Amino acid sequence: MYSTLLGSLLLGLSLVSAWSPTNSYAPGEIDCPSSNYTFVREATAISDEEASWLESRNNITFTNLKNFFTYSTNLSNQSDFSIDDFFTNLNQSTIKVGIAFSGGGYRAMLAGAGEISALDNRTVNAFQNGLGGLLQTATYLSGLSGGNWLTGTLVLNNWTSIQDLINQDEVWDLENSIINPGGLNILQTLSTFNEISNDISDKRDAGFEVSLTDAWGRALSRQFFTNYSNYGDALTFSTLRDVDAFKNAEMPFPFSAAVGRTPGSNIINENSTCFEFNPFEVGSWDPSLRSFYDLKYLGTNVTNGKLSNNSEFCIAGFDNAGFIMGTSSSLFNQFILQLNTTGLTGALYDVIESVLDSLSEADNDIAVYDPNPFYQSTYGSSQSLANSSNLYLADGGEDLQNIPFQPLIQPERDVDVIFAYDNSADTNESWPNGTSMVYTYERQFSSQGNGTAFPHVPDFTSFRSLNLTTKPAFFGCNSSNLTSLSNIPPLVVYTANRPFSYWSNTSTFQMSYDQDEKLGMIKNGFEVASRLNLTLDSNWPTCVACAIMRRAQERNNQTQPDICRQCFEEYCWDGSTTNTEPGINFTLTGTTNTDDGMDESEINSAAGLFINYNRSFILIQFVFLFFVYFGLFN
Ligand SMILES: *[C@@H]1O[C@H](CO)[C@@H](O)[C@H](O)[C@H]1NC(C)=O
Ligand SMILES: *[C@@H]1O[C@H](CO)[C@@H](O)[C@H](O)[C@H]1NC(C)=O
Ligand SMILES: *[C@@H]1O[C@H](CO)[C@@H](O)[C@H](O)[C@H]1NC(C)=O
Ligand SMILES: *[C@@H]1O[C@H](CO)[C@@H](O)[C@H](O)[C@H]1NC(C)=O
Ligand SMILES: *[C@@H]1O[C@H](CO)[C@@H](O)[C@H](O)[C@H]1NC(C)=O
Ligand SMILES: *[C@@H]1O[C@H](CO)[C@@H](O)[C@H](O)[C@H]1NC(C)=O
Ligand SMILES: *[C@@H]1O[C@H](CO)[C@@H](O)[C@H](O)[C@H]1NC(C)=O
Ligand SMILES: *[C@@H]1O[C@H](CO)[C@@H](O)[C@H](O)[C@H]1NC(C)=O
Ligand SMILES: *[C@@H]1O[C@H](CO)[C@@H](O)[C@H](O)[C@H]1NC(C)=O
Ligand SMILES: *[C@@H]1O[C@H](CO)[C@@H](O)[C@H](O)[C@H]1NC(C)=O
Ligand SMILES: *[C@@H]1O[C@H](CO)[C@@H](O)[C@H](O)[C@H]1NC(C)=O
Ligand SMILES: *[C@@H]1O[C@H](CO)[C@@H](O)[C@H](O)[C@H]1NC(C)=O
Repeated sequence: MYSTLLGSLLLGLSLVSAWSPTNSYAPGEIDCPSSNYTFVREATAISDEEASWLESRNNITFTNLKNFFTYSTNLSNQSDFSIDDFFTNLNQSTIKVGIAFSGGGYRAMLAGAGEISALDNRTVNAFQNGLGGLLQTATYLSGLSGGNWLTGTLVLNNWTSIQDLINQDEVWDLENSIINPGGLNILQTLSTFNEISNDISDKRDAGFEVSLTDAWGRALSRQFFTNYSNYGDALTFSTLRDVDAFKNAEMPFPFSAAVGRTPGSNIINENSTCFEFNPFEVGSWDPSLRSFYDLKYLGTNVTNGKLSNNSEFCIAGFDNAGFIMGTSSSLFNQFILQLNTTGLTGALYDVIESVLDSLSEADNDIAVYDPNPFYQSTYGSSQSLANSSNLYLADGGEDLQNIPFQPLIQPERDVDVIFAYDNSADTNESWPNGTSMVYTYERQFSSQGNGTAFPHVPDFTSFRSLNLTTKPAFFGCNSSNLTSLSNIPPLVVYTANRPFSYWSNTSTFQMSYDQDEKLGMIKNGFEVASRLNLTLDSNWPTCVACAIMRRAQERNNQTQPDICRQCFEEYCWDGSTTNTEPGINFTLTGTTNTDDGMDESEINSAAGLFINYNRSFILIQFVFLFFVYFGLFN
């Protein structure tokens, strides 16, 4: 009772029905919508709920786009362009902007925080020094793994801003890792683990199978949901439906991305099923599933979308917010695959391997959704998904599509432009090299690709050598060059992590950040998204506007104003490739092989750090696994 009251006060909820009915981590029984309610629908269009939400959001983004064009760009001074005419011509049909944040642990969360703060008009100086107001034009916001920690923290804390998170230090206190939450205070660490363990027992005692991801999600919630009683133990993702800031479409429509693992297999590749969680549904557009399930009723026994065995009650509270954010970042299964790279040997190696092995045999190494919401569903082609009593989901980046593009490139969503922030660790030094772009590009031609067109991109080497990771790059600038694809994809504005004021290539496995490190990462992210506070290009907001309006101009046969042609000259990938190995020194504008860039030894020492962190993380993680495994599952 207490937690419901407190929760509803915090969020100004008009309804509390989307909270776990038990007011705890355990899911519980609620009335079903009706005895013959259909929980699963075929993925032929966006949901009715999303469509009706868009009616409110479209109006807001239309106004905010016009403001962005008018106040943040130089477009009002152009003799060959009229902002008023352009928006009048749109006839109230808005341009759809999507924003995506990649995975990469806390590095991705913090670098992404800096990047999103540069787009957010609520950030002090983002209007003067960055792209302030762009976030307010977004229809969709997509996060994966560390990127979904960022987007999830914002949307589930009443659409708070990074500015507010920095001003109050409760949320995102990263001084101690979640694996050692008490720091030097071992008793506190033990008591935290004990509380987590109790939460998990609650769920298991209520009759649900639990997995490592439950423990992981509860631990993460202690950093993300400090504003809720018991760290959001009863907070669900579908709670958003009842939050004013979502209902009134003041925030973009959020997605968390995950990937499905075929039951009985350890392999995740381009044939794996890409899942999205949104406030209304969980499911996939891929041919293997082609279905969506009403998120609020996860945990309910359904067969082919209908209530099983004339059950009288439905289940709610299974879609715990931390559990879903943990699902998108469930990398445990990677440890067994990467154990060989840790440098561990001998008895320790054997012990760890055997624990990990037994976890993965029991399918406990990734998120278990039991019962399978898509049990006996008939819309998809995958028999193994439909016949399995459980659904197994893992970190969305495991298919190497580390930027959550899939929800944004579905033709049903009609997105015009995607701002993609890549904070992946593709190279040994933990910088991106375009890998996620290449994999999303290639997937469109696979059997799962069905209609998910994505612009042409070059190979990894070219990405770095052509400076496509040192400054923002536009892909798919001209629809006329995209007609061979299944449909015209959105234009993609790709921005990769790089250093300006801070070495932001921290290891994916760095689990704690002190205040200086945290602020250093965020500040650098701001500079990355704003082209070093507009000092490298004072026209950057104008060029961003040019990218936003490109598809609408092409559809309406409008000529590009001269200033936009110059922007495209500067930022569009021109189709060229190279096999010259890139330099390793970042300069302000690119990379160079000679020593006149940033200090090479610093980059090398960052690489050393990676190996060390990687190794110690495995050890720490092992302690965590060991505890959870023997403490909870035996
Ligand atoms: C949520 O945010 C809005 C806008 O900032 C604010 O008006 C409202 O009071 C907040 N609600 C709660 C419960 O804090
Ligand atoms: C079951 O659903 C159908 C529509 O899908 C409706 O016409 C019918 O009245 C419902 N039956 C019951 C018992 O609710
Ligand atoms: C759009 O918003 C304006 C005010 O910003 C309002 O007057 C108008 O009624 C809204 N239109 C719709 C369709 O909601
Ligand atoms: C860029 O702007 C941000 C936000 O105002 C500020 O924190 C940062 O110090 C600025 N960076 C530089 C290099 O001026
Ligand atoms: C952002 O804020 C500034 C100053 O507060 C304001 O002038 C501007 O119109 C806002 N921009 C958008 C796009 O809302
Ligand atoms: C994906 O599936 C197709 C057809 O089912 C198969 O030809 C292809 O080899 C698979 N790809 C991978 C990477 O397994
Ligand atoms: C769902 O069905 C399974 C197998 O039939 C059963 O063991 C389980 O108790 C059911 N769960 C609920 C919540 O009804
Ligand atoms: C690790 O390496 C050993 C020896 O090379 C090999 O036998 C084992 O299968 C490898 N394990 C994994 C998980 O790759
Ligand atoms: C680019 O990233 C991929 C994996 O993400 C990696 O295999 C490849 O070695 C990287 N290339 C370079 C030049 O770092
Ligand atoms: C996607 O798959 C569905 C069902 O198999 C098919 O009807 C549709 O035409 C496909 N769309 C594209 C663009 O290939
Ligand atoms: C234009 O399309 C061709 C294939 O039709 C592709 O190879 C090339 O990379 C594309 N150019 C750009 C700039 O996207
Ligand atoms: C990349 O940037 C460096 C440094 O500004 C520059 O010397 C080089 O010509 C650029 N490479 C390309 C292909 O533009």
